[in-house]
Amino acid sequence: MNKKTIRDLSFKGKRVFVRVDYNVPMDKAGKITDDTRISATLPTLRYLLEQGASLILGAHFGRPKNGPAPEFSLAPVANHLSSLLGKEVKFASDCVGPIAETAAAALQPGEVLMLENLRFHPEEEKNDPGFAKGLAVLADVAVNDAFGVSHRAHASVEGITKFLPAVAGFLMEKELDFLGRAVTTPERPYVAIIGGAKVSDKIGVIANLLTKVDSLLIGGGMANTFIAAQGYSVGKSLVEPDKISLAKELIEKAKARGVQLLLPSDVVVAEKFAADAAHRVVAASAIGSEEMALDIGPASAAAFAEALNTAKTIVWNGPMGVFEMDAFAKGTEAVAQAVAHSQAVSIVGGGDSVAALEKVGLADQISHISTGGGASLEFLEGKVLPGVAALADK
Ligand code: 3PG
Repeated sequence: MNKKTIRDLSFKGKRVFVRVDYNVPMDKAGKITDDTRISATLPTLRYLLEQGASLILGAHFGRPKNGPAPEFSLAPVANHLSSLLGKEVKFASDCVGPIAETAAAALQPGEVLMLENLRFHPEEEKNDPGFAKGLAVLADVAVNDAFGVSHRAHASVEGITKFLPAVAGFLMEKELDFLGRAVTTPERPYVAIIGGAKVSDKIGVIANLLTKVDSLLIGGGMANTFIAAQGYSVGKSLVEPDKISLAKELIEKAKARGVQLLLPSDVVVAEKFAADAAHRVVAASAIGSEEMALDIGPASAAAFAEALNTAKTIVWNGPMGVFEMDAFAKGTEAVAQAVAHSQAVSIVGGGDSVAALEKVGLADQISHISTGGGASLEFLEGKVLPGVAALADK
């Protein structure tokens, strides 16, 4: 990696602003239902503390649009972090101004302070220089360990680097290492598997992957648009009519480049979108006019598994069907099994794919589970992430 990391600086006695992505799922009672993003930052936090730093953690939570709101408070996250770290995590009820400044100034080496939600100030998302400076005055150095939000040119991610030396944390380094290799020097065969509801969300990534991979496997709701592009009726399935011609172009592009494009040959269909709906397996060319495709079928799952089996590099993002409903989860589960059991360097991003791996108990078989949803897609699209570009070069 050509960016400096926390290994390149000395932190003894330094106040360090660490941008983390603690945008985690939480239930109505304020209980964190998946703390992967928090635990993934622990190596960085522990290392900095061992080096004699004090830490000021900045994060966003959700998308509050009207200033402070209790349901978007990071206080429960600070508590959770405290139990994971096994030490007190102080909490400042504002991320800039006198409250934050007093709390930061009082920190002793080895202490940790978490700031309230950065997005309680609209200036964060506007990348306002004055706000970025207000964060920068709290610390001597900035560390970015928030890969998941590094596709956003926000004040705490990008703006702050204009005022403080800024380097990557270990989580950021790991993300860039795995995703960077997939983009630049993948071991072949390189197989990408993309799913999810809509093609429109992932056009950029599909187009870029077609210039890199040996095989591209497409499932999930977005496959319906490709099925329609092959001239078949998709009945009542979710489909994006305005993207059918684009899907045709992508099919042509794959052919022209000699990329194996695998689309579902069979699908699981039902007449209602419901967990208890009667369902059947049909060829992708034989979806009834009242039916909707809600999962890939067993023949497709077997073909996908075969392609994954011989891969040396795998990138997977997005479920193959309506994975939340058992009747339509089999395709995603089969892919999860195949990815987990392959000998490839496997990189998985997107909450649903990770949830599928956890459901089948195989998440620990994956080489790298990305903590970035949108960020990992933009990276795979070949885009430069502003939060990464802003870090000091080696
Ligand atoms: C995420 O959850 O993908 C990141 O935390 C970014 O959040 P955002 O999409 O609200 O910017």
